[in-house]
Amino acid sequence: MILNQDQQDLLNGKYGEGAKLAMKVQVAIGESFGAKRMVPITRAHVALSNQDADLWLAEKLVGLGAKCRISPTVNPGFSLNWFKERDMVDEEDYKMMERTHNAYKKLGASLTYNCTPYIDTNVPNFGEIVAYSESSNTPYANSVWGARTNREGANSALFAAITGYVPEYGLLFDENRKGTILVDVQADMENDYKYHILGMCGKKIGHGVPVFVGLPKHISSEALRNLGAQLNTSGAYDMYHIVGFTPEAPTLEEAFGGKEPERKVVITNEDFAEVLNEISEEGSRNIDFVMFGCPHFTLSECIHINSRLDGRKVKVPMYILTSTSVRETAKEMGIVDDLEKLGAFIIPSTCPDQPVWKFLKDKIGLTESPKCAYYPRRRGIKFVIRDLDTCIEGAVRGEVE
Ligand code: F3S
Repeated sequence: MILNQDQQDLLNGKYGEGAKLAMKVQVAIGESFGAKRMVPITRAHVALSNQDADLWLAEKLVGLGAKCRISPTVNPGFSLNWFKERDMVDEEDYKMMERTHNAYKKLGASLTYNCTPYIDTNVPNFGEIVAYSESSNTPYANSVWGARTNREGANSALFAAITGYVPEYGLLFDENRKGTILVDVQADMENDYKYHILGMCGKKIGHGVPVFVGLPKHISSEALRNLGAQLNTSGAYDMYHIVGFTPEAPTLEEAFGGKEPERKVVITNEDFAEVLNEISEEGSRNIDFVMFGCPHFTLSECIHINSRLDGRKVKVPMYILTSTSVRETAKEMGIVDDLEKLGAFIIPSTCPDQPVWKFLKDKIGLTESPKCAYYPRRRGIKFVIRDLDTCIEGAVRGEVE
């Protein structure tokens, strides 16, 4: 790989051992993908996980004196304040999150603790080269904003933030951004929840760049968030196209770059029913809690829940996960207090896949997100999956059909 002077200096340790390590790994990644050079980035997002390996790397880089040239936004762990104030976190878990917080702070990250940066905290422009990790973030940046990023891991995105460069390969090139699979959606797509289920059809869609046809003309940001998150729960997708909607797919021909699709797939209501059957804890009527916000909920969704509850108390606790900025606005609007009186909590900076939820072990939750059901399963927490409004009614009744 040919490196310019600055990149060579980074590799030679001119900017310290941390930056040297980051560059060394990035060069190795680049070489393994056949990259010929490194290119500068303007943004980064690190899918911090607050788990052992993540913390080990962050602290190692701090110890080596690394500092981010591009301050990356970061994924949620759990909110130290929210759980501490309610005496809901034990000492060991608190200390781990505190160490994660301190390590990323020292590295110079923007401590947003939010997994939907493409909606408000780190929005790229068309054509911008960025280094984004996080399942819904990469496809949203590539597909919806037309920015360019490979599907970085949390660690490679952190290295990119430190050096300010990424190896040039994959989706940074026009020819790799073309569609390869035609996905004809014949299933009913009447609400945002259906995009969760569509995204869970990865097994049938198969490997490649999907080009969706048959979707409604207007698709919300939340629906696109859901689609990307679940595509990377049921499979591995860097980007997709929606013909006549996403910027690099004004026509079917342009979406495929003038080539024929390698494969054609039809998605029906029967596929949706099959997917739901596989991932939802069917057969459980009674539920112990309701959880939303995986990926993080938007302000509109918080407003919707409040107006849908319309003063009715919930029978089981409802946890709504979101960013600090959304929670602050909801607080200003009185929504946080209104909901708390009803038994629903808007929680900032928190992910369901965190040790702080261990008090939910062996309980049955209700959620609209298959990803929310997928990860906490390894912590012994199971979920029934339904659309958002059914979940809200389920919280009021403490049970679900
Ligand atoms: Fe976000 Fe955690 Fe879900 S990072 S998408 S809330 S698993």
